[in-house]
Amino acid sequence: MSRIAYVNGQYVPHSRAFVHIEDRGYQFADGVYEVFAVHHGRLIGQQGHLDRLAHSLAALQIDWPMGKRPFMVAVNEVVRRNHVTNGLVYIQITRGVARRDHGFPAQCESALVITARKMPALHKPTLSKGINIITIPDIRWKRKDIKSISLLPNCLGKQQAREAGAFEAWMYNEQDEITEGTSSNAWIVTADGELVTRDVSHSILNGITRLAVLEAAAAAGLTFSERAFSRQEAAEAKEAFITSSTSHVKAVTRIDDAPVGNGHIGEMTARLLDLYVAYIEEKGGPVKTDRWS
Ligand SMILES: Cc1ncc(COP(=O)(O)O)c(C=O)c1O
Repeated sequence: MSRIAYVNGQYVPHSRAFVHIEDRGYQFADGVYEVFAVHHGRLIGQQGHLDRLAHSLAALQIDWPMGKRPFMVAVNEVVRRNHVTNGLVYIQITRGVARRDHGFPAQCESALVITARKMPALHKPTLSKGINIITIPDIRWKRKDIKSISLLPNCLGKQQAREAGAFEAWMYNEQDEITEGTSSNAWIVTADGELVTRDVSHSILNGITRLAVLEAAAAAGLTFSERAFSRQEAAEAKEAFITSSTSHVKAVTRIDDAPVGNGHIGEMTARLLDLYVAYIEEKGGPVKTDRWS
């Protein structure tokens, strides 16, 4: 069955889904994106994704291509037309098509593309198996809170991870603090048992999955710290994991080729994976979705 994409008001076969060469997304990476997980036929973290998208658009002064209600109708329609029960929806909004000039065009209609793709259903044993990660310098710009389509440093980092036989790369800043993964948020349980993920600022993208895990942890009475943690703390951590809409809660069992803890998924990580799945199945995603930077 052929895939269907939404491109600027039309549903078209994926193989014939094109945008103009002077779309500013293509020319300047002048746009933003969102990735929603679809879990058992339900969009996860809908409000959070909408709020974060609004934050990214406002930061770049890009207009919504349409109202939020018709926007969600289009998103759901792409999911329906592609028969996605488990998978993801990709949404990209750019400033639109204009003669090439760095400054914003006086008049431009923002452009919207939506695609959806099936993925294997969330599978706890696979997420529990654990992944290897490497650490690399964070060479990105200073507004990581904006979900910009300008992803070259992230792509270079992910490629470096792949070439090292790893699944993800955690980036560290000039203070030797871990910021986040190339497409995920970073978490550790320190040697002293403290659950830690970096606090929200311009230094990270505040993940919808991160927010859901924090809410699920709080609801279960678990304590955590939102603070910067160093590469050294990560190296000495008892447990580590990543969160994202596509990786959910995935255990990290090796960092820079050294085992994390005993080299298997930790107790806290396993608990948070269970809590997270129960939370999104009950609530549909994080409830508080207003802190992006
Ligand atoms: C840099 C970065 N950080 C964090 C995340 C996790 O965000 P979410 O949980 O909303 O998928 C992503 C996801 O793409 C990302 O690209």
